[in-house]
Amino acid sequence: MSNVKMYSGESIPLEMHKVRMVQKINLLPVEERKKTMAEAGHNTFLLKNRDVFLDMLTDSGVNAMSENQYAAMMQADDSYAGSETYYRLEETVQDIFGMPHFLPAHQGRACEHIVAKVLVEPNPNSVAIMNYHFTTTKAHIGVCGGTIEEIVIDEGLNITSENPFKGNMSIDKLQEAIARIGKNKVSFVRIEAGTNLIGGQPVSMANMREVSKVCRGYGIPLVYDASLLADNLYFIKIRETEFKNVDIKTITREIGTLMDVIYFSARKLGASRGGGILVSDDKIAMRMRELIPLYEGFLTYGGMSVREMEAFKVGLEETLDMDVISQTPIFVEAMCKELIAKSIPVVTPPGGLGCHIDAKAFCEHIPQDQYTAGALASAAYIASGVRGMERGTMSEERDKVTGIDKLAEMELLRLAIPKRVFTLSQVKYVADRLAWLYENRQLIGGLKFVEEPSVLRFFFGRLAPVGNDWPAELAKAFKRDFGDSL
Ligand code: F0G
Repeated sequence: MSNVKMYSGESIPLEMHKVRMVQKINLLPVEERKKTMAEAGHNTFLLKNRDVFLDMLTDSGVNAMSENQYAAMMQADDSYAGSETYYRLEETVQDIFGMPHFLPAHQGRACEHIVAKVLVEPNPNSVAIMNYHFTTTKAHIGVCGGTIEEIVIDEGLNITSENPFKGNMSIDKLQEAIARIGKNKVSFVRIEAGTNLIGGQPVSMANMREVSKVCRGYGIPLVYDASLLADNLYFIKIRETEFKNVDIKTITREIGTLMDVIYFSARKLGASRGGGILVSDDKIAMRMRELIPLYEGFLTYGGMSVREMEAFKVGLEETLDMDVISQTPIFVEAMCKELIAKSIPVVTPPGGLGCHIDAKAFCEHIPQDQYTAGALASAAYIASGVRGMERGTMSEERDKVTGIDKLAEMELLRLAIPKRVFTLSQVKYVADRLAWLYENRQLIGGLKFVEEPSVLRFFFGRLAPVGNDWPAELAKAFKRDFGDSL
């Protein structure tokens, strides 16, 4: 994808692909959207996809695949042990990252499980230091008896900024944390590419080099979560001048030289499904390898179907193509521009993954313990049929002792842009309905849990409106302004 200049002077994102397979989607009338949202307990995870117009919940496992990925799926070699498909995948992954050991797993969190079992469990009460946590990462470290500490640069937590790499780690905080915790009690240091929960913000190569130097100085393993690497590679190439003329594979291989372990969800990286772990140290690799048949499946499939593995291999190769990896960031930028023009508060600079709306500023009147971003996600579905994801206090956990909610540092509504799935007119529709919602934001009310699971509560939790039946008021206002239009 490229931003192309029109004769009128305007720049628009122009797709460098054409669509040759489509899926019909429905936009329900607003009364039905209100009813459906209530039946789903005001949790967008519990909506049925048939009731969703644009599914912007996530980019995980829902990216459009290329014709070459589909073609490769037809040539898969099915066998429990020693599948040719596995060796093809292994060779490609090793070549792209330049690391010697590859272990397959069924998705990203399965990799996190194995990493935590080997690096955290043998060292009780150890701390994993990271730029920022991801929900499943933190949960797996916790289950294995560890805790986490976050040391993203201060600017990373500012909603608006000019900093091109808001996912960077603070080297001062890293040094301070290691000195305080003691190097033997640091299980590992983790860099997350395209930092998910703070708005898809990238990490620079310069920062990775520095972090790697510090970790090697102390002998602390450096782990890289590459799930959002595609977007991060794009940003390194266009925002870090040193890499302007460097090809994507050279950039990826340099990352490989800096890390001890790289893992990822292939539901994101490689626009397919599955996951995998790369390891440079032989001993760590052997310890992890033992766990693959126990939790995932035999070493030559790791819980994936061979057809997925073929699509994964080709998807990874296509990640080296700027036309492929630029699509999401350029669309995110276009959507943020539309929203900013309508005064809607979004995380800037635009990152990867999706557009992130600052729910605290959008709904100033809803306290965080009434799940500001969750309420906004529910209201946005009622106003548009678009399904986003809450990334805020609902995605945190209560304090186990006091039962009080841990208020999230950022309270975001994430509208993910899966790769090559949506069109520019659909993006403009989302911006329009959000602009209407912003005008009518006083109608949005808070939410409270009526069913609250103890682990990762945001997946299955059910909520109800606080106070009045505000979803009904919102639907009424929509009907008043749009009449019979969907
Ligand atoms: N790490 C990061 C940075 C992720 O974004 C995800 C998934 C995972 C690990 C776990 O991978 O889903 O394959 O088990 N993120 C998805 C999302 C779920 O919607 O952001 P998984």
